[in-house]
Amino acid sequence: MTRHLISSADLTRHDVESILATAESMHDVQRREVKKVPTLRGRTVINFFFEDSTRTRSSFEIAGKWMSADTINLSAKGSSTSKGESLRDTAMTVDAMAVDALVIRHNASGAARQVSQWVRCSVINAGDGTHEHPTQALLDAYTLRSRMGRLDGKHVVIVGDLTHSRVFRSNVITLKTLGARVTVVAPPTLMPAGVTAWSETDGFATSWDLDAVIDGDDAVDAMMMLRVQRERMSGGYFPTAREYTVGYGLTRERLERLVRRNPDVLVMHPGPMNRGLEIAAEVADAPQSVVLDQVSAGVAVRMAVLYHLLAGESAEQLPEGAQA
Ligand code: CP
Repeated sequence: MTRHLISSADLTRHDVESILATAESMHDVQRREVKKVPTLRGRTVINFFFEDSTRTRSSFEIAGKWMSADTINLSAKGSSTSKGESLRDTAMTVDAMAVDALVIRHNASGAARQVSQWVRCSVINAGDGTHEHPTQALLDAYTLRSRMGRLDGKHVVIVGDLTHSRVFRSNVITLKTLGARVTVVAPPTLMPAGVTAWSETDGFATSWDLDAVIDGDDAVDAMMMLRVQRERMSGGYFPTAREYTVGYGLTRERLERLVRRNPDVLVMHPGPMNRGLEIAAEVADAPQSVVLDQVSAGVAVRMAVLYHLLAGESAEQLPEGAQA
């Protein structure tokens, strides 16, 4: 594996499968009464979040702590960023303290890659603008595999605000790396330019018609709903919230149709959810929903990522004390 994790495209199938296998051991640690292994004792991880986060920031912090790393959280407010310090100076300042890893979330696409070129420590992309969110894709793959086994040939449908989504981009890459087939669905205004060209690649399709995908020949194994990111929208991407839900929301009626075709269908959402907009509240809480499984997997997968990046040459072996 490379020194950094910036893009899902940095990971080969072997890398992804190694991380997911390690995450299974880490999940066993998560289920213990005493959740602590000494694997990263003496290592220091800085979580630097220039954008808000609940799941990613807390799970990286928990992951580091459970592996005995020293973890420090910084945010733009409260750091010298608010005094106008540049990203380069901030990154190099943190690196000069001899930290081992910098977990970064930033609103600029490409920020994590840029930072990785300035520092000596490992850099993990915790979401950069509308570009990528590779650890989210790994935890989604972990969640899917724990329910359905291998993903080869499985049909995953990703629906929603693709234009502003970094989750969608990383998921398409990781799901295809693991052999899944992916259909992405969005209104024309929220379908990113260039994505239709991807549809020429094997195992990838695009659609503007959610109902046609639900009722199509290819039964859906998992339906991943994405948040409508109003904070990134400068204009009217759809007429009203009600019209968005009518066209692209996962309503109870649509879930019932999915279940009739495939009783084992799973419903996913990376969170935070707009209940009643892209997903009905009752669907978010339905037996088919694995939304909280995704959250739980986030800690184990981020432990595994830290382990593979920081534990050095022993990274192919399970960590001492992390055995089931
Ligand atoms: N899925 C996700 O990245 O959530 P947070 O913004 O809460 O970290």
